[in-house]
Amino acid sequence: MQIYKTVAEIREALAAEALHKKIGFVPTMGALHKGHLSLVEKCHLESDLTVVSIYINPAQFRPQEDLNRYPRNFEKDIDLLRNYHADLVFTPDNAQMYPEGYCTWVTVEGLSDILCGASRPGHFRGVSTIVLKLIHIVQPKLMFMGMKDYQQIIVLEKMIEDLNLDTKIVRCPIVREPDGLAMSSRNLYLSSEERQRATCLIKALKKAQMMVNEGCLSSSILISEAENIIKQADGKIDYIKIVDGSTLQELAEVHSGARMMLAVYIGNTRLIDNLELLP
Ligand code: PAF
Repeated sequence: MQIYKTVAEIREALAAEALHKKIGFVPTMGALHKGHLSLVEKCHLESDLTVVSIYINPAQFRPQEDLNRYPRNFEKDIDLLRNYHADLVFTPDNAQMYPEGYCTWVTVEGLSDILCGASRPGHFRGVSTIVLKLIHIVQPKLMFMGMKDYQQIIVLEKMIEDLNLDTKIVRCPIVREPDGLAMSSRNLYLSSEERQRATCLIKALKKAQMMVNEGCLSSSILISEAENIIKQADGKIDYIKIVDGSTLQELAEVHSGARMMLAVYIGNTRLIDNLELLP
């Protein structure tokens, strides 16, 4: 496994190695957990060359957010990636990705302002920009992404379509702790008491799914039941919405492909999760 810190180095390595090979790519911000590793594993199975990036992208954090305390675990990440058969790891610094005078940004309009984009203005502009840059550098055929960040996948799929990029996103299932909490690097922020309360997200989603199975299709009823579950656990709701799984538009009634999306603060930690309510 080789580690590259500059755009020029990884480009050169890929030019030499990647001829006629199907490149698979897993973009990450490090602090790797089993969710990330499941992506690397799948990438290794489905590609000829597995490229992983570790870069905490400042452009997707707002000033008051957790950029400075975002977990960093570089040595451990590298050991894990070696065990999971990554071939090339790209670990640029800010000077590589946003050199002085940098001023080009990509925005996927509409999809970037709703749900997480409404509470985190500019977040998806930062994500789209960095992922477009990484795709240009790595030139992957396949890019493996976890469905916990469901809106991120929808935004990036639209960017890929609109800009005619030759990369396909492979949507990978959410990896959960045994009690259902979706794996996230931000789970590290939770105290043990908060960690227990954090299961309210999956409980609310499962309850909605169960009610749909029993015939309740009204979004307002499903959302108010989910709100009760979150409030009982003392969670602060950022949003709970039921949306169409392709367009992310809000639905008054659940239909096939509908998804409940939620963002909830447990203490100071903002957690997100989602579940398809009807296949
Ligand atoms: O999902 C993430 O970890 C980040 O948003 C990504 C895709 C690596 C871009 O910085």
